[in-house]
Formats: sequence, C-alpha cells, structure tokens
Amino acid sequence: MSNPQEKQHSTLLRKNAYRKSPFAQPFLKWAGGKRQLISTIEQYLPTRFTTYYEPFVGAGAVLFALQHKRCVINDANLELINSYRVIKEQPHELLALCKEYKQKNSKEFYYQVRGLDRAGSFKSLSPLERASRIIYLNKTCFNGLFRVNSSGQFNVPYGDYLNPRIVDEAVILAISAFLNQNEVKILSGDFADSVLGIRKGSFVYFDPPYHPISDTSSFTGYDMNRFGADEQRRLKELCDKLTDKGCKVLLSNSNASLIRELYSDSRYEIVEIQAARAINSVGSKRGKITELLIHNRYEFKDVGRKKQFGMGGPA
Ligand SMILES: C[S@@+](CC[C@H](N)C(=O)[O-])C[C@H]1O[C@@H](n2cnc3c(N)ncnc32)[C@H](O)[C@@H]1O
Repeated sequence: MSNPQEKQHSTLLRKNAYRKSPFAQPFLKWAGGKRQLISTIEQYLPTRFTTYYEPFVGAGAVLFALQHKRCVINDANLELINSYRVIKEQPHELLALCKEYKQKNSKEFYYQVRGLDRAGSFKSLSPLERASRIIYLNKTCFNGLFRVNSSGQFNVPYGDYLNPRIVDEAVILAISAFLNQNEVKILSGDFADSVLGIRKGSFVYFDPPYHPISDTSSFTGYDMNRFGADEQRRLKELCDKLTDKGCKVLLSNSNASLIRELYSDSRYEIVEIQAARAINSVGSKRGKITELLIHNRYEFKDVGRKKQFGMGGPA
C-alpha cells in the first residue's frame, strides 16, 4: 500500500465506517437523474424486500440513497457501467488519473480527450482510462451531459467552467466501499436481461428514458438507441411478468398519455408527483413539472409520513 489516502481508506474499511455513507452519491451528472426526487421516492419504498434491482441505474441516485445489502444494477451505457466497475476495483488509480486530468484541464485538452473515441485506438484504452475519460468529460462538458452522436461518439462541447470539481475523493471512495462491502452485481445490457432469474419478494425500481410528452420533445440524450413507444410497451409487459411473480415494482416516467394508458389496469397505481426540471433547452430555467410514479400496490415503508404530508394518492 503506497499513499496515505489508501492507508486511511483501508482503515476506514476495516472499521466499517462506510456503512450507509452519505458520501455514496451520484458521481456523474446524468440526464434524468433522480437526486432531487429522493425524498418523494423514499415514501414509495416497500416495507420489506430481498434483492434490490435497478435496471436503468444511470448515476444511481436511488441506489445510493438505499444502499441495500443485495443489489443488481444495470445500464445499457457501457462507459457508465465500466465506471462503476473501475470505481469498485481501482478507486485509487482512478482518483490519481482524474487528478492528472484536472491539472491538464483546458479547452484544448478537453477536445483531445473527447476525440479519443474518434480514433481507432479507443478500443485499446484500458477500463481505467475510459472511466477517467468519462468522469473528466462529464465534469467539464457543457451542462454535464452524456450525449453521443449516431456513431456513438461523445459530442458535447466544452463547458468553460472556472473551477470544475472533477475529482471528489470522498464520493469515489464511499461508492467503492459500498460496492465492495455489499453484494452488488453490476451488469451492462438490456433492462429485461438484468432481471432474469429474479425471485419473489425482490424490489425493482425502473427509471427508463422518459416517454416524450409531445412528439417534438423527443430528447433521448444517453446513447444512440432511441427508447421509443415499443420499448415502453416492452417494459410494461416485463412489469406484468414481475407482478405475476410476486415482485414489487416501482417505475418513474413522464406524464405522457401513452404511459397513463399502459399502466391503467387495476394492478397498478399511478401517482402524480412534482419534479423540478430544466424547462428550456439550455437548462438555465427551472420549473415544476408533473411526472409519474407507478407502483404495483405493495405496502409502503413510510405510510405514516406519506399521510402526514398528504403526498401522492391515486391520480
Ligand atoms: C432516466 S436515466 C436513469 C437515471 C437514474 N435513475 C439516475 O438517477 O441517474 C435512464 C437510463 O436508461 C439507460 N438505458 C436506455 N436504454 C436502456 C435499455 N434498453 N436497457 C437498459 N438501460 C437503458 C440510459 O443509459 C440511462 O442511463
């Protein structure tokens, strides 16, 4: 063991100091991230469940709020999932490389790093280099988005921020400890595959790309695969199968008529919630918009608090 940071980290690990650490929190800014909605989502958590599944984990706001002992997380974005794996396996090396990138940060360096996926050599980058690249780009790009073009190349311009926080040591180490000290399976595939073999009593939180409210607002943002109406239908069929199996299902989505129609059968309850979201394309204006939380009628952990604050209720 070489540096003081590594020594301190392993002492904290031994003392179990990372148990439910508040520092385990999203390490990337992610479109559709649920950080602002955690206190609302917490009111709809089931009383009891065995394994926690998050098939569209993104930056993991709900995963880290729960820090459940047994989890299966998944996302179709390979660069994102690679970052989770590197944080688990090589947190110190990752921090060192991110610090190096921070020192080199400039507009020119940004485009050099961004351009790596345009070069044939991208495949030869190590998982560590790919994870540092994504963290660096996410923290320095315009608006902190992950967006790629139809060839899968990252295409967000430089953000020109004065002092971007590229490395958050406490966050990376707490996430690493969480991933190592619990049984967390990290998968990178389609949402349906991530729940294969699921057992009765498990809890699944689905946070798919939202269905557009209108045909013109078809922002997809994450990767080149559009998540269209057929995908939303496929997800609903999966929710039905999980319901039949005795799993608890919670889903976030937009207040689109397709979503309301899909989940109109009596096995589900649709709850309207208010979310603070960017309401213009630049993201500078924020406003409250109605979104949906849909559950398959399990018992909530927090019924008392829910009643007390008068939240939710059937839409
Ligand atoms: C709304 S975001 C999830 C945000 C997350 N809850 C958070 O707090 O950051 C939706 C995620 O679904 C992923 N995704 C898109 N299509 C997918 C698919 N077919 N299977 C699994 N994940 C998919 C995207 O890469 C994106 O990370």
